[in-house]
Amino acid sequence: MAERVTASAPGKLMLFGEHAVVYGVPCLVTAVDRRMKVSLERRRDKKLVIKAKQVGLPYYVRNIKEAGKGETPKPARFTEKLVANFYEQYGLSNGLEVTTDCQFSDKYGFGASAAVTAALGYGLSQLYGIKQTKEDLFNLGYRTVIGVQGVGSGFDVAAAIWGGTIYYIKGKKIESIKCKDHLLAVGYTGVKADTPALVRQVAELRRQEPLRVAGIFSQIKEVVEEARVVLEKGTGRSLGRLMERNQRLLRELGVSSQKIEDLIEACGRGGAWGAKLSGAGGGDCIIASVAEESGDRIRGEITQAGGGMVKVGYQAEGVRLESE
Ligand code: MEV
Repeated sequence: MAERVTASAPGKLMLFGEHAVVYGVPCLVTAVDRRMKVSLERRRDKKLVIKAKQVGLPYYVRNIKEAGKGETPKPARFTEKLVANFYEQYGLSNGLEVTTDCQFSDKYGFGASAAVTAALGYGLSQLYGIKQTKEDLFNLGYRTVIGVQGVGSGFDVAAAIWGGTIYYIKGKKIESIKCKDHLLAVGYTGVKADTPALVRQVAELRRQEPLRVAGIFSQIKEVVEEARVVLEKGTGRSLGRLMERNQRLLRELGVSSQKIEDLIEACGRGGAWGAKLSGAGGGDCIIASVAEESGDRIRGEITQAGGGMVKVGYQAEGVRLESE
């Protein structure tokens, strides 16, 4: 058992299949090379201290027994809930200090909350010398996400734990796939998406027009299955075409926005093979399949359209220990 540990988990980029994944359609997600680091230290008292400066919570304290109960400030919710779930599962009551350090803005939609649950769950298992498989960590993280935000498929928790690129079916499959080095550009709209609200919006559309939405989901499934093959052995051009197809379907679901469309058009002007929103929609990031030589033009066009390029590598390593 250690006195202190630091663990980290990557953020994610949804490649194909967002929204439909909530209803059992597969999706493809990759881990990005920006990480959430979580440092844990035992305390001699019975307090839970959370330090999360980047999200406006420099010092937050409460009794460990009360973790996850009653009102919790937003930036502490996932941390508190995960600690509460872990402590309950293993009958723990020790004091604990948690410090988070994130290498990406929580505004990008890279899944900071999922990454926190993955890194924290892993860190706790190391701190207390409790063996947890990836599946155990996933169940703990996913239970925590559902406990805090009520909705979500769990694909982001899986990406944070397994890393690499994953073919994910909610409740059924988490399969690592070997993806070629396709070049992706990532553009940020400057608008933070409200994921739970967008998931509920699609749920409402599905309630009102079940047949139309079922048709859209089954076309998204086709796109995801084709994209899996293209990611493994296809061309950037084919990947771009599949992004366009997925984007058309997301538009029909009503989750695109003017800003997203502006950035997608900008990618087209810059010579991208295709682009789509990534994640819940409404804002956050877009991804584009691009050739090496069009990178600078695309950057210029995205900036002109009022967006920003985010430089990320993908297929990053999953949850890991940083130090003891
Ligand atoms: C959000 O990043 C992706 C959604 O499919 C929600 C989810 O799968 O949890 C919209």
